[in-house]
Amino acid sequence: MINVLKDKKILIGITGGIAAYRICSMINKLKKGGSIIKVIMTDAATKFVSPMTFQSLTNHPVHINTFDSNNKSDIEHINLADWCDLFLLAPATYNTINKIANGIADNLLTTVIAAIPSQTPVLIAPAMNCHMWENLIIKENIKRLEKIRINSKLKKYYFVAPRRGQLACGYEGEGVLETSDIIIKEITKILH
Ligand SMILES: Cc1cc2nc3c(=O)[nH]c(=O)nc-3n(C[C@H](O)[C@H](O)[C@H](O)COP(=O)(O)O)c2cc1C
Repeated sequence: MINVLKDKKILIGITGGIAAYRICSMINKLKKGGSIIKVIMTDAATKFVSPMTFQSLTNHPVHINTFDSNNKSDIEHINLADWCDLFLLAPATYNTINKIANGIADNLLTTVIAAIPSQTPVLIAPAMNCHMWENLIIKENIKRLEKIRINSKLKKYYFVAPRRGQLACGYEGEGVLETSDIIIKEITKILH
């Protein structure tokens, strides 16, 4: 069987949710498959896992700030958007999904997503409290993003819905980040 993950450049956007720590093992699995991984974090994400952890796991610097480039001739958000074969947003917060659906690009992560070329797939794996997930605002915005993909035949935006389970806040319900195996399966399917 062909390994479609081999040599694929995957840019992972990590937002501020409890499930951020689960991306560590996903990075290891993707690297085992031969993928090259870079990470962007929101400020909120850095409260959950240290950027140093992702820097060590990926062997690449972690990108956080839009105006932080060491090389002033570089436009970092465009370089990152052009670099990847697939953008994975995981875990995707309520806040960031709603921002993307409304064209907001007010940090490095959302600015890179805005600049991703139309042939590059963007896969979104939400994770949040079950009441946030049931909120009609996010439901409408996800529908809006899916409609963009279906109607325009762009590769933006695919979703892996969260699963039901025990949430960190104590609730039992839908909102748990899907397993890394299922997310990687979805990446493989999209890239195939
Ligand atoms: C302990 C804690 C856990 C959180 N977990 C989540 C979560 O799983 N999903 C979510 O959408 N927001 C969660 N939030 C709220 C987000 O961190 C907050 O909305 C933040 O502004 C998201 O910013 P970002 O989308 O730029 O990363 C959590 C906040 C705290 C304090």
